[in-house]
Formats: sequence, structure tokens, C-alpha cells
Amino acid sequence: MIQKHYFTTFQNHSQSLVKKKFIFVNMKIENITCIGAGYVGGPTMAVIALKCPEIKVTVVDLNKERIDLWNDEDLSKLPIYEPGLADIVKQTRGKNLFFSTEIDKSIKQSEMIFISVNTPTKTYGEGKGQASDLKFIELCARQIAKSAESDKIVVEKSTLPVRTAEVITKILKSSKKGLNFEILSNPEFLAEGTAITDLLYADRVLIGGDSTQNGQKSIKALVDIYKNWISDEKILTTNVWSSELSKLVANAFLAQRVSSINSISALCEKSGADIDEVAKAIGMDSRIGSKFLKSSVGFGGSCFQKDILNLVYISKSLGLTEVSEYWHQVIKMNDYQKNRFSSIIIKSLFNTVSDKKITLLGWSFKKDTNDTRESAAIYIADKLIENKALVSIYDPKVSEKQIYNDINYLKTRSSSDNKKHLNVHKNVYDACENSHAIAILTEWDEFTKLDWGKIFSTVVSPAKVFDGRNLLDNQKLEKIGFEVFSIGK
Ligand SMILES: NC(=O)c1ccc[n+]([C@@H]2O[C@H](COP(=O)([O-])OP(=O)(O)OC[C@H]3O[C@@H](n4cnc5c(N)ncnc54)[C@H](O)[C@@H]3O)[C@@H](O)[C@H]2O)c1
Repeated sequence: MIQKHYFTTFQNHSQSLVKKKFIFVNMKIENITCIGAGYVGGPTMAVIALKCPEIKVTVVDLNKERIDLWNDEDLSKLPIYEPGLADIVKQTRGKNLFFSTEIDKSIKQSEMIFISVNTPTKTYGEGKGQASDLKFIELCARQIAKSAESDKIVVEKSTLPVRTAEVITKILKSSKKGLNFEILSNPEFLAEGTAITDLLYADRVLIGGDSTQNGQKSIKALVDIYKNWISDEKILTTNVWSSELSKLVANAFLAQRVSSINSISALCEKSGADIDEVAKAIGMDSRIGSKFLKSSVGFGGSCFQKDILNLVYISKSLGLTEVSEYWHQVIKMNDYQKNRFSSIIIKSLFNTVSDKKITLLGWSFKKDTNDTRESAAIYIADKLIENKALVSIYDPKVSEKQIYNDINYLKTRSSSDNKKHLNVHKNVYDACENSHAIAILTEWDEFTKLDWGKIFSTVVSPAKVFDGRNLLDNQKLEKIGFEVFSIGK
């Protein structure tokens, strides 16, 4: 009944106020728009569409190529690789999940709008290298202000500096259309590679909103969506600022654990202790816990570095120098670990890798994703190429085009120079043939199942493996004849 009434009034100009204010009276969400069809927007909205079949979910993006791939009949072409994602898209796309470039139209039709656009580190001007670049967020707010013809609930899904909601509110209010906009913070805690499981079985859903009546009603509207599959006790509601800050802090704490264990890996290598044994011993202490204690070549991904840098910047801006320096050290330790790994390769190849073929297995920043942003592999390849190595790469999910984009993006040398020193292979055995060293940079399961005996027969002696993920069975490799270096061993 209510729905019918709504659509009748939609047509009726004289009753347009009813429609404009409808959302804060009935709080029934029937149409959602998500701006940003990326690693968060795509999977998150696919799961909402799956769990809320009565809601029409439209994911919009400026990037037409990306939207076309989301709409491609061939599900293997989805722009994002995540286990389980294609199956959900298959069940929902064209029913209540849509991908489109018609941003204005979708905003107009929706009661709730998620902003899920990228918030990279600024590369220019004030705050360069640390602050979040909020230009995409600002653009979204301006677009909502311009297109909206009725009240909206605007949900911050992107990770944002604390108090960004204030900026969004100011922009929305400047539209002077007499509309109501409520801003909620609902940061996303999914991890790439396990995004679908994380979304379906979230540890918690965090929703921050205002204490006003409309604020509380808006929170309830979003809670009601999540309640379709998340239990009440896992849905945490807070004020907006706590919610915004919690996301940055969560990433900082996770990355801090990685940097902590990586710092100890260097100590293990010098002292004869074994990092996996140390991690196990400390992780069994229930106060510490066992997760995120796997030593590696360094963390990557689009979030950890940028979110910590943002925290560093915010703390510094607020005059909290010690706090800022404390968190900055997490990034410095990560850079040290990446650098240390490439130096170990170079040193062990008799201090020169010039014209030597070095094979890197894995390019994505972790397994089960095709995301390469801030992947340690990029920096290791770059340093090896600087030392004139011939770098050969195999990754099961990352395209050749992406790999060249990543290395060219660093601008260390010209793209034609990169082309001379970097080769991407589709076959892992071809990638390893005639190598002076093989480095494992991503923990893809398939690397544990390779025929290492076959690889040994094709590489240059002494055959060397550098395991940047402590993935392989060292004893087995040594038995075959490889010299093996593992982090923290
Ligand atoms: N990737 C993760 O694992 C992860 C996890 C949690 C939170 N986050 C946060 O979520 C946000 C999005 O991250 P992502 O990895 O999905 O980014 P992404 O780069 O994969 O996707 C962002 C998309 O937004 C689009 N976009 C930018 N401005 C736009 C505009 N004005 N209108 C329409 N589309 C626009 C871009 O074209 C792009 O496709 C970031 O703030 C990130 O920190 C990411």
C-alpha cells in the first residue's frame, strides 16, 4: 500500500513535498545506489542484493569499461576476482542488481546512496604523501546535491578521515533545495581474497550516525538492511566520528601486527630463532592471538599504507607528534622489509643480478585477488630492474597489462626500459626456465603444488629459491637441490 502511494505521489507535482519527505516518515528503503563499482562497491552491493531481494541495488561508476565488464555475459570477465563473487552476481544481476554509468538517474531514484569511491593518498599539494585525497568523495557529494530531488540517506562506505561527514554535509546542504540529507558512516571491514565470506559472516557491522531523530531513523533503516543476514549483536551503532575513526584504527592495528612480526623476522635471521616457531609460541597466548602473525615480504594492498599515512597526517595536524611518529614507524618497518628482501636476493647472487634472470612468482598483493595496489612485488621488481636484472613474472590472476602499468606507474625508468627488463609469462614453468633465482611473492596455493623437480632441471645452478611468504616446504626443496632462503629462518 505504502509503496503504491509513494509511486502515485511521484507523478503528482502538487504533492511533491510528500515524496520529498517520504523517506524520513516511512524509512522504507526500496532503491539503493552505490557510487563506485570497485573492490568494495561491487562485492558489498552484490551481497546486499542477494540478501535483500526486495531492494533494487544499482552500482554506478564513471568508468565505463569497468561497468561493461560487470555487465559482461562471461562472468570470468568481472573486473574483480573474488572467490564466490561470480556466483552471487549470476544469481542477482538483472533481477535486483544492476551496474550502470547513469549516475544522476540512479541517485534520483534511490532513497539510500552509498559512497564507495577510492580515497587514495594525496600525490600533490598540502598533505602530499600522507593525507587522503578526498576529491572523489567531494565530487560524489556535489553530484548527489545536484541530482537529488528528494531526501536521501548518504552512507560513507569509503574509508575516510575522521570528520569527513562534516564536509559532505556542508556540500549537500549548499544545494538549497530544502531537502534533508542524513549522513551515516558504515566503513567496510572486508579483506580482499575473502571478501564474500567476510561480507556474509561479518565479525561486526559498524554504523555511525547522528543522535537526532532523523539520524536515529536513518541508522535504523541501514540496520534493517543488514539484519536480513547479520545478527543483532554484531551490528554496532556509534556516533559518526567514532565510526570513521574506528576504520582507520582497525587497519593501523592490523598492519602494526604485520610490521611487528616482520621486525622480529630480521632478528630471527641473525639469532638462529625461527619466525614461525616464535609466532606460534606468542600467538598461543590468548591475550595476543594467532592471527596476522605470519611474517612476509611486507604488507601491500590499497588500504593499510594509505590509512596509516592518513592517521599519521591527522595526528600531526592535531599537534600529536608522538602519536603520529608512533604510527609512521609501522610504514617504515614495512618499507624496510621489502628493501631487505630484494637486498638479500642481490647479495646472495654474488652481489650482482645484472643480466641475470630472476623469476617472481606472484604479483597480486595477496592470494585470491587480482588487486595489485601497493603490492610488495612491484617494489621488489623495481629494485631488481634498477640493478639490471631481467625480471620474469608469473601470476595466475593478474594481467600482463596490469603488471606493466604497475611498474611504469613508479616512473623509475621509461616504459621502453621496463619492457626490456620485464617479461610476463602465462606458464609458470616457462617463467622459471633458465632463472638464477625464483622468489615467491604471493602465497597462491598453486605454488605449493608445482613440480619443483621439473623446475630444478631447467634453472641455472646454484638453484636458488627466496620464499617471501614462507609458503614452501624447505626440506623438500633442499632435497631436490635448491638453496632456499625463507623470511625469518
Ligand atoms: N579494497 C579493500 O579491500 C577495501 C576494504 C575496506 C575499505 N576500502 C575502502 O573503500 C573505498 C573504495 O575502495 P576500492 O578498493 O573499492 O576502490 P576502487 O578503486 O576499486 O573503486 C573505486 C571506484 O570508484 C569510482 N569512482 C571514483 N570517483 C567516482 C565518482 N565521482 N563517481 C562515480 N564513480 C567514481 C572509480 O572509477 C572506481 O571504479 C576506499 O576508501 C577504500 O579505502 C577498501
